[in-house]
Amino acid sequence: MMKEFAQSVDAGLSQSEKTLPSKYFYDKNGDALFVEIMKMPEYYLTRSEMEIFSTQTLDLITSFQADKNVYFELIELGAGDGSKTRKLLEALSEQGYQFDYMPVDISKNALDQLEQSLQHNLPHVSVIPKHGDYFDMLGSVKNSHHPKIVLFLGSNIGNMTDAIASDFLYQLGANLSENDKLLLGADLIKSADIVLPAYNDENGITHSFNINLLHRMNAELGATFNPDGFVHAPEYDEIEGIAKSYLLSNCQQSVEIKAIGKTYHFHAGERIHTEISRKYNDEIISSLLDKTDFSIAAKFTDENDYFTDYLLNRN
Ligand code: AVI
Repeated sequence: MMKEFAQSVDAGLSQSEKTLPSKYFYDKNGDALFVEIMKMPEYYLTRSEMEIFSTQTLDLITSFQADKNVYFELIELGAGDGSKTRKLLEALSEQGYQFDYMPVDISKNALDQLEQSLQHNLPHVSVIPKHGDYFDMLGSVKNSHHPKIVLFLGSNIGNMTDAIASDFLYQLGANLSENDKLLLGADLIKSADIVLPAYNDENGITHSFNINLLHRMNAELGATFNPDGFVHAPEYDEIEGIAKSYLLSNCQQSVEIKAIGKTYHFHAGERIHTEISRKYNDEIISSLLDKTDFSIAAKFTDENDYFTDYLLNRN
């Protein structure tokens, strides 16, 4: 049986327009590169959401409508390094709320680091890490009957197509109970001169992040990709509001992948589509929520109007 990674790679590279799933960016090296991305001057997303969490902390907490006498679960999907959530955890714990923080992440490495740093910086907060794909975690959310506040930040939802995102939100809603909350971070549609540099930084960190997929296939699947044979080629269409990342083959080349037992051919200029990063407005978010049990209860936007955290109520 081929491993899931090998199967996804084969499925993607066998299409006439080649693709690779972006979830495989996040191995140890990819996690470290993403932490670098979040610090880049061009990557306004993290800064904007951090501003919301720092300057509107109390309003955020009020919007949760949590009762200080009732224990709740604070579940973060795709927690990464949890830097934004720290503000919230600090304030919730200072104000005497009773909760466990349950970060869910596909990267074991990111979760271990997060747990360690929280133990050190916020020893009063109880942390229960959950390792896994957040799609797979949806079902386990249902197993407890405590009130839940789910955080899905960083515009992580933007890495899904609209169809997958709306299905994901539908399923999440179906696994929650009435009056549970979802705080959904969404990068807003804006002009290309702001968005594109965030995905095409001057120092080439995003290039390394995208190319890391090739290194990962070489190391884990016995592939023969020459990382210098591809360049990171992002695009952003401001009407559609979607940034797309590609790996562009700069020559004609063939690559063998031993774990699959196949050779794939690339012509000069051929692209592998590796990621979408969707940008949003209220209409797009509302249409994603159309078939779900969620409605928008509040909105928190940064001063530049770059990024919004939507507080959604499970009806
Ligand atoms: C994790 N995710 C929200 C990032 C984004 O902005 O789409 C991943 C990323 N890709 C390139 N730069 C950052």
